[in-house]
Amino acid sequence: MDNKEKMTLDIAWVEDALAKKVAEMEGAPKQIVEAMEYSLMAGGKRIRPVMMMEAARACGLDDMSKVEPFACALEMIHSSSLIHDDLPAMDDDDLRRGKPTNHKVFGEAMAILAGDALLNHASQIMTEAVAESCDSGMAKAAREITYATGIFGMIGGQTIDVLAEKTGLDIASEAMLTRIHSMKTCALLQCAVASGAYIAGADDEVVKKWKQYGLYLGMAFQIIDDILDVVGDEVLLGKPVGSDRQNGKPTFVTLMGLDGAMEKAEEYTQKAKKTAESLGADFFVWLAEYLCDRKY
Ligand code: IPE
Ligand code: IPE
Ligand code: MG
Ligand code: MG
Ligand code: MG
Repeated sequence: MDNKEKMTLDIAWVEDALAKKVAEMEGAPKQIVEAMEYSLMAGGKRIRPVMMMEAARACGLDDMSKVEPFACALEMIHSSSLIHDDLPAMDDDDLRRGKPTNHKVFGEAMAILAGDALLNHASQIMTEAVAESCDSGMAKAAREITYATGIFGMIGGQTIDVLAEKTGLDIASEAMLTRIHSMKTCALLQCAVASGAYIAGADDEVVKKWKQYGLYLGMAFQIIDDILDVVGDEVLLGKPVGSDRQNGKPTFVTLMGLDGAMEKAEEYTQKAKKTAESLGADFFVWLAEYLCDRKY
């Protein structure tokens, strides 16, 4: 089986696992479940849960049942970040994963609640798994994921990202953008591989290397996202092009132009590949290349 086929199988497993989690929401107010399900089950690349599964496999775990709650939780957190990211008060976008954004369908109040609900449900699922298992690798996975989601990770990064729009394009620096990207985007990718490794029983030294991989891959991933916001195809992307420019958002493209940004993305991709090679993780060497060449 080649790496692309492996990823396709993993994605199918994730879709199935997420559908089960939605079915378990039976009994909660149906309006909130409907809004959560709308965004969570709208597809998307599912790279965070896939990375968690493959990192666990690379660290010797075969049985994915231990990974399942954490993989679902992370995709819920990611989906919640997208619902909130699209709100009028944030990026103000109308299209996501090829469908009207959550607030366009359910209204702002329900979109805010659906984002909050996905975030909280993720914590619920993880703490339930940890409480039932008393497994220290699973407890560390929960710690990594909650840390990466909060003020030192994704939400912290989204905060500086929103503030940067007011700072102005002219004074944006590479150091500032690197900080924003590493928090708003890399943190969730780093915790994906770190949690997979911990669940498989890896030690802190090995996990540190996986996080380095996530950092390099995440930098390339967000720079490519910024490039696609300029030159991408809206239908393929499933989200609007030109959103960053409309919001006056500093990106690697505004800082160094399309060619300069592409060179940076390639540089980070090379670093990610080298790190994956040193981990003996062939899937992740391939993934870095695959995500750098992506069109959506
Ligand atoms: C979009 O993430 C937000 C960024 C961090 C750039 P993805 O590109 O992984 O979005 P989906 O999950 O495939 O929709
Ligand atoms: C968002 O970055 C990163 C998140 C944490 C959601 P963007 O605002 O560039 O993501 P897209 O382009 O809307 O997916
Ligand atoms: Mg944004
Ligand atoms: Mg956005
Ligand atoms: Mg973007």
